[in-house]
Amino acid sequence: MYESYYGLNSKPFQLTPDPSFFFASKWHKRAMSYLQYGLSQAEGFIVITGDIGTGKTTIANSLLDNIEDDIVAAQIVTPKLSPDELVKMVASKFEIDTLNKTKADILKDLESYLFKLHSLGKRALLIVDEAQNLPLETIEELRMLSNFQQKGKPLLQSFLLGQEELQPILRAPNMEQFRQRIVASCHLAPLTLDESREYIEYRLEHAGLKNDKLFSDGAFEKIFKFTNGVPRRINTLMDRVLLYGFLEDLTYLDEEAIKTVTVEVSDEMFRPEEGSDLTPKTPASAAGDNNGAVMTDMTEDGRVKDVQYYKTMLNELTDALDNAISHKIKLTRYIDNLLKKKYKTYVRLKSDD
Ligand SMILES: Nc1ncnc2c1ncn2[C@@H]1O[C@H](COP(=O)(O)OP(=O)(O)OP(=O)(O)O)[C@@H](O)[C@H]1O
Ligand SMILES: [Mg+2]
Repeated sequence: MYESYYGLNSKPFQLTPDPSFFFASKWHKRAMSYLQYGLSQAEGFIVITGDIGTGKTTIANSLLDNIEDDIVAAQIVTPKLSPDELVKMVASKFEIDTLNKTKADILKDLESYLFKLHSLGKRALLIVDEAQNLPLETIEELRMLSNFQQKGKPLLQSFLLGQEELQPILRAPNMEQFRQRIVASCHLAPLTLDESREYIEYRLEHAGLKNDKLFSDGAFEKIFKFTNGVPRRINTLMDRVLLYGFLEDLTYLDEEAIKTVTVEVSDEMFRPEEGSDLTPKTPASAAGDNNGAVMTDMTEDGRVKDVQYYKTMLNELTDALDNAISHKIKLTRYIDNLLKKKYKTYVRLKSDD
């Protein structure tokens, strides 16, 4: 929508992980090196953990994008698979027919498939994303799959990507056998202030922005403060910042502009007020921010008892909807003007004929 206004040839802050926009921050570079090291080892497990939205799936997609021809890769992103479902899913990802087959049959077919690949000089790689959702028994099943071997060389290598909750799962006492097969692991941290700025500039430039003075230094600081350097949060905010700049006809975005957008975004997403950090608040602490106006009362199991709390939530929702509507109105006006201009040009050209 705002692309042509800024002279961009694509949307710079899409939420879908796109390898062509891959930005190699210190941690992303390190995680990528671990994955590549893992590939060169051709055995064991590589584990990448990271906070929500820090770029795990992006890294996996970038790796898959550059993978060598002799590796046949499959990616699984499915929560809460049982061990049997995992086997089925892995087999079908490698295009093995699993219909009406027992687990034993599927495993046999999978083994023959892996042998066949090996005889063709190829090997299989399994990338398990969102691995924090896998039950322990399923991770154990993954380990069993890594036991398929040919002359001592494993036939299937796996990478596990998951949010922080994956760490305690792998630390569990009964996961020792799995742990011993981990060849490298790495944790993705959010971007620093400088990296956040470089990340934003990189994505804008990659999308074709020529104006390298679109944001003030203060604007970058504000963006960092609001997003804590988490790439997905940066993308969400930046998309709205660019929309705001376009609607308000701004060619320079300073701290004030970012502040306006962060307030809007906070309202819509029930995020903490501007200036505070982004740590999600419990209803009780949110109540504290309202000078005691909201008397939140919790039941023993942590549920909110107080109706007032929900009223405040509803008010926030109403504000957010109002905001969204006023944006829509602004946009409609803009499109209306555009159409009028086009129509005038059309009439002029017609009368010239
Ligand atoms: N290194 C990077 N280069 C470019 N874009 C990135 C990078 N890291 C993250 N992003 C962007 O941030 C957003 C979130 O990334 P991604 O989906 O990979 O995070 P995730 O860690 O897999 O999140 P989740 O924990 O929810 O699975 C995406 O829009 C992605 O494009
Ligand atoms: Mg992900």
